[in-house]
Amino acid sequence: MKRPPHVEQIGGLPSKVSIYEVGPRDGLQNEAAIVPVEIKADFVRRLVSAGLRTVEVTSFVHPRWVPQLADAEQLIDTLDLSIAPRMPVLVPNARGLDRALDKGLRDVAIFASATETFAQRNLNRSLDDQFAMFEAVVSRAREHGLWVRGYVSMCFGDPWEGDVSIAQVVNVAKRLLDMGCDELSLGDTIGVATPGHVEALLHELFAGGTSSGQVAVHFHDTYGQALANALTALRLGVTTIDSSAGGLGGCPYAESATGNLATEDLVWQLHGLGIETGVDLEALVATSVWMAEQIGKPPVSRVVNALAG
Ligand code: HMG
Ligand code: MG
Repeated sequence: MKRPPHVEQIGGLPSKVSIYEVGPRDGLQNEAAIVPVEIKADFVRRLVSAGLRTVEVTSFVHPRWVPQLADAEQLIDTLDLSIAPRMPVLVPNARGLDRALDKGLRDVAIFASATETFAQRNLNRSLDDQFAMFEAVVSRAREHGLWVRGYVSMCFGDPWEGDVSIAQVVNVAKRLLDMGCDELSLGDTIGVATPGHVEALLHELFAGGTSSGQVAVHFHDTYGQALANALTALRLGVTTIDSSAGGLGGCPYAESATGNLATEDLVWQLHGLGIETGVDLEALVATSVWMAEQIGKPPVSRVVNALAG
């Protein structure tokens, strides 16, 4: 590598952070041109080889809703599921869970909305009705001994409804934990969060009894705030951060959502802070450069661009 970051620690931060890589799912779901399944499988393998221990690989949603991930079964058949400790997939409903169980998956994620409009647009359900759909999934997943993540989308703002109250987000988050989710992921689906808002939401959640170990953060980088928001979450004790290799991504059902926080940008910051990630940054940058060639778009990650030249 050209140059690793100089290391200076900040007191009070964790010594280790778990990166939850979402590139193959959140990163690719918005790509209009279908990526061949072999390329997707290579992408997952390369991410794992670069040291990422949790890689969210695909979604078992209706193929009409997300055509890019219609090959979920084929992708799983192509992959060796033992290469990474955790390979979660998105499952919205009973049908999605059946598909995941048929393929022997051990880690699943449901995805709830904090707002009425996004529940309708993303799940074809009302805000209230989404819970009945997820309750059935989570209870059966747990009976099968699966690990279950619960996403909450639109935690910091919604493109149709505008502001989203912290109380509303905390209410949805608690309902997912009460259902039996092992981990929450707080989604800034459209990338509008700023550090004070992140701190206020986490404070409120923790004040209600949720522990920092149960919470992950999921920032999209539309307004360039994702790294600052991640550091804010770290300072409050969160140790699982979602990101996408190269900064790929966006949600097809959320206006103005761009890519996730880029994994390379996150790793550069964490390594500069002396925080262990297990990730080989050079191998990861090479993976994102390769993936960018496959989809014919330059990577948006600043660190990839700085190191790849
Ligand atoms: P629906 O149309 O209401 O489904 O969609 P339904 O239950 O009425 O069923 C209609 C038909 O679909 C039936 O088939 C079902 O079998 C079939 P028919 O009897 O008519 O032949 N069906 C399915 N087929 C395959 N797999 C399934 C499935 N479910 C039903 N799982 C549904 C409801 C939830 C399925 C739909 O709205 C959907 O697939 N939504 C997914 C949207 C999505 O994937 N969005 C992106 C992920 S969320 C995100 O990116 C945000 C996140 O990153 C966090 C953040 O950034 O905030 C996680
Ligand atoms: Mg997302």
